[in-house]
Amino acid sequence: MQFLDLAYTKPYLMTLHPDREMDVAILGRPDIARAIVEYGPTPALGALLEGGRFEIRGLRTPARGDGYDPVPENNPELPVSQFVFHLAGLGRGQRVYYRVTVFDARGGCAQGDVYDFRTAPAAGEPFSFGLMSDLQLFKPCDHTIHQLGRHPLDFILYAGDMINVAWHAGDWFTVPGAWQPEKMVGMSFFDIMQRDDGGIRLMQYMPVFPCPGNHETDDNRVEGNRQWTLEFDRYSWRIYMQIWRAYYPDGQYGWSGKHWYSLDYADMHICSLMVVRCNPWSPFEAPGTILRGGAPGPDSAQGQWLAEDLRASKSRFKWIVMHWHMMNRGDDTQPLLCQPVPDPADPSRVTYPVDNAGGFLHPLFVQTGVNAVNYGHSHVYERYLIDGVHYIEAAYMGVKYGKPDGKVNPSGIYPVNQQHDFRSYLVISCGGGRLRARAYQASMEPGGYGFEGRVFDEFDIV
Ligand SMILES: [Fe+2]
Ligand SMILES: [Fe+2]
Repeated sequence: MQFLDLAYTKPYLMTLHPDREMDVAILGRPDIARAIVEYGPTPALGALLEGGRFEIRGLRTPARGDGYDPVPENNPELPVSQFVFHLAGLGRGQRVYYRVTVFDARGGCAQGDVYDFRTAPAAGEPFSFGLMSDLQLFKPCDHTIHQLGRHPLDFILYAGDMINVAWHAGDWFTVPGAWQPEKMVGMSFFDIMQRDDGGIRLMQYMPVFPCPGNHETDDNRVEGNRQWTLEFDRYSWRIYMQIWRAYYPDGQYGWSGKHWYSLDYADMHICSLMVVRCNPWSPFEAPGTILRGGAPGPDSAQGQWLAEDLRASKSRFKWIVMHWHMMNRGDDTQPLLCQPVPDPADPSRVTYPVDNAGGFLHPLFVQTGVNAVNYGHSHVYERYLIDGVHYIEAAYMGVKYGKPDGKVNPSGIYPVNQQHDFRSYLVISCGGGRLRARAYQASMEPGGYGFEGRVFDEFDIV
């Protein structure tokens, strides 16, 4: 029996305490009766731990031989068991080898491969990480990600949009026999992020620190229905938050829940936010674009938490990851980052009188010494440097959206660099008291220039 005969995924890593703990998790069939992890400081392993079992609710397989019924409930729910192994008491900067074994009720078992990860080192020690976002099963994104996965990294910051439709089981991992669009076969999130041939080291080897994107909403139909958009009870992020449960231990899946967290990695404090808009129609047409749970304003629960969290942190570097742009060329930042209010002159229109990006978040970042903010959603490469804060969208991994020559964001500031002629990825290394960012070309487009692996943008974040 092979490991993936019982499991749907290989192991993946998540933790709020990367200096001393790690949660190793797998998703698998309900036939798994139990699962264990063996782990230790060498490939000989040694220690053994039983996995805690959780049932993942909300994933569905296609009702028909040619696809999903658009109504989620008309598609059969796929029973998925998640096993989580909580490795605690690890030392700083420690290499840990591990292997997961799954057992069925009949006594059969399947052993996974031995993987390894490193816990966060002490402050001042070097580390590296990669930025990712917006894979969404777009075919060339595997080519980009697998180039990124050949760099020696310690963790991944993932700025949302892992999948297209959260309740489609096949968007997350391959379910044998379940229909998938031809062009997306093999492009499921875990399929891409768990390739481990040819020196590729991704989710089995390092924690992913994610934030939710607009595609992580449980039921994406709220995006296309004016009435539903305003019915906040219809919003939840249960599927995403179950898969990444280590970051959301309270399990507050609904509109008013806590969808944000922070952690320390060596010298760096990382805040992951929920900043996501719903934009099914013209943003100035009622009801406007809705900021989903946790608007990032000074009076919101998320905004108050963020201000306290950033002020309390003594870390040398501070980094924010969120899905929606603070700075961007094109339409996505034209309505300011706030909820719409009815236009008194025209009930069919709305206005955006408050600017949480320029009026609250940016001044807070400057005051508290935030070094960088990264986000996705427009699938472009753009970066800005404003008052010492770097705003980075390194998100042209599979497909390009956005408007490279679009109008400038409300700050009026142009990007330091923008590059949309090829796919790309960004790797950041911390050492010597600075963060050094290198952006790599990942594709040669027809009639294009350069070469894969070329560094086309390099800058320090100090
Ligand atoms: Fe998005
Ligand atoms: Fe996206």
